[in-house]
Amino acid sequence: MKYTKVITGLALGGIILGFALMYSGVINVAATYPHSSLTRWVLHTAMERSVSYHASNIQAPPLDRPEQILNGFRHYREMCTGCHLVPGVSSSEIRKGLMPTPPELQQTVREWTPAELFWIIKNGVRMTAMPAWGPSHSDEKIWEMVAFLEKFPDMTKAQYSEMDKQAGPDAGDED
Ligand code: HEC
Repeated sequence: MKYTKVITGLALGGIILGFALMYSGVINVAATYPHSSLTRWVLHTAMERSVSYHASNIQAPPLDRPEQILNGFRHYREMCTGCHLVPGVSSSEIRKGLMPTPPELQQTVREWTPAELFWIIKNGVRMTAMPAWGPSHSDEKIWEMVAFLEKFPDMTKAQYSEMDKQAGPDAGDED
């Protein structure tokens, strides 16, 4: 009984302190103010667990048709490069202003299964700059992006430029 009162008191105190902090305005929401390493760990772990849980029932279709990969490249070139970069480029204007900094997909793609990549691209990641592409793209198009990403980690700068030529000019409306 005594312990229950203490625990309830602590919980209430915590809630009141939380609200006081929030309303005081001292929490800095600026994108130039970096997350602490603890916040970064909590957010990233929550994101990884959430993606793994939500993608567990998704079945990936075959992803090796050349046309599918080339279409995926076109989507990537049009919509993703500013944040996730291309081989041989190490920064962009938009990346410098984002918190968290978008990962360089060439390095991180292998950490995810195709189903997980599909889920992330379709749904985005809340409270980060990662948009959901599901509202504007069919599942087929999102699988094309995954098909391209599966090839991306091994791609050299020269192979990327070769694909760029093969894909033709960026029409800007590859939706
Ligand atoms: C405006 C910037 C922005 C654009 C444009 C963008 N992303 Fe992202 N993306 C992010 C950020 C930021 C994260 C990190 C989210 C996090 O910290 O959980 C991310 C994460 C990801 C991840 C998870 C990778 C990892 O290792 O955590 C994938 C996959 C991804 N994006 C794919 C794409 C694709 C494909 C496109 C284009 C169709 C795209 N993104 C466009 C900002 C962007």
